[in-house]
Amino acid sequence: MKIKSIQIENYRNISALSTDFDNVNIIWGENAQGKTNLLEAIYLFSGEKSFRGARDKELISFNKSNARLKIEFVADNREQFAQIDIGNKKTASLNGIKKRSATELGSVVKTIIFSPDHLNMIKEGPAERRKFVDGALCQIKSSYRNLLKDYNRSLEQRNALLKKAEDVTAVEPMLEIWNVNLASLGAKIIFQRMSYLKALKPYLEDIFSGISEGRESIELAYIGSDTYEFDVDDIEHKLYEKLKSHTRVDVLNHTTTKGPHRDDIEILINGKSVKTYGSQGQQRSSVLALKLAEASLLKEMTGENPIALLDDVMSELDEKRQDYILNHIKDLQVFITCCDKEAVLKLKKGKTLHMQNGALPEE
Ligand SMILES: Nc1ncnc2c1ncn2[C@@H]1O[C@H](COP(=O)(O)OP(=O)(O)O)[C@@H](O)[C@H]1O
Ligand SMILES: [Mg+2]
Repeated sequence: MKIKSIQIENYRNISALSTDFDNVNIIWGENAQGKTNLLEAIYLFSGEKSFRGARDKELISFNKSNARLKIEFVADNREQFAQIDIGNKKTASLNGIKKRSATELGSVVKTIIFSPDHLNMIKEGPAERRKFVDGALCQIKSSYRNLLKDYNRSLEQRNALLKKAEDVTAVEPMLEIWNVNLASLGAKIIFQRMSYLKALKPYLEDIFSGISEGRESIELAYIGSDTYEFDVDDIEHKLYEKLKSHTRVDVLNHTTTKGPHRDDIEILINGKSVKTYGSQGQQRSSVLALKLAEASLLKEMTGENPIALLDDVMSELDEKRQDYILNHIKDLQVFITCCDKEAVLKLKKGKTLHMQNGALPEE
């Protein structure tokens, strides 16, 4: 897919902006000018919340009550347009037809995003790695998002019960209902995550071997509350048993200690955990490989090339890795933010957009 143009009103520090895009777009300028804000605005069309974890309200310009974003794009071989309005609520439309929620735009607009935060994906806790797999799955099938929602709702209910519980016997019958429910929903989540990692594997191996020039091999392992077979019934059964056997622990902790909300994905290079043993370079290469593999798999599963958003990552990578990314995503439309446009232009020709104080004056 390709975004042809964008119009922005009252979004963060961008009060009014309208521009066309090319295949390669280099958004450059000094710090705090609005480069990431522009990328974030594009990203919202993929149906996700801000990648900086901001709440919708925070996206509206200070002292304004509504933000409006519009894009024209080509996807599914036809010209389309979409709009997002953020006021008291966030609303969205696609080709003039109102959607039930902005999330639904995600079934048409696909993106992959690299930011310096993603380079920390290895070092941080499991939440970041779960977010990677869950985010990727949501872009492939919207039913996965509903599944996560249902699971989280049940989890909240079980936790609410645990918070009030004073002794185990009093709450056990109620907890049992949630154990059955969470095991069933949780097993579906875990099975889909495991399936995703399986599908990602060939792409990941190929790309990682490319980045490391064939010297190293990468592997992913799903770390759950138990050792699961690649079988949804086996997962459900084991998860149910775990929840049941941890009732006492959960009552003491006032929270649910087992289940996919606690799972992790271990990344191994040459069989060793990259989190524990990997060098800086290996950690960066593995995140890049994961992201690029995500793009390839997204393309295979949806038939559409995602848009690549590279926020400030070029300066963090050595030239060899910069070159590898740009070559690998050469079929994708790409948006790159940076301070020094010359450094990027050396590697890739493209349209340059000079962001100054939330605006793009003529260059
Ligand atoms: N809701 C908002 N309204 C107005 N300005 C905002 C809002 N949120 C963030 N900003 C401003 O946006 C600027 C940061 O923009 P950003 O895109 O992160 O910069 P960079 O060009 O470094 O990527 C800061 O000056 C910040 O104060
Ligand atoms: Mg920035």
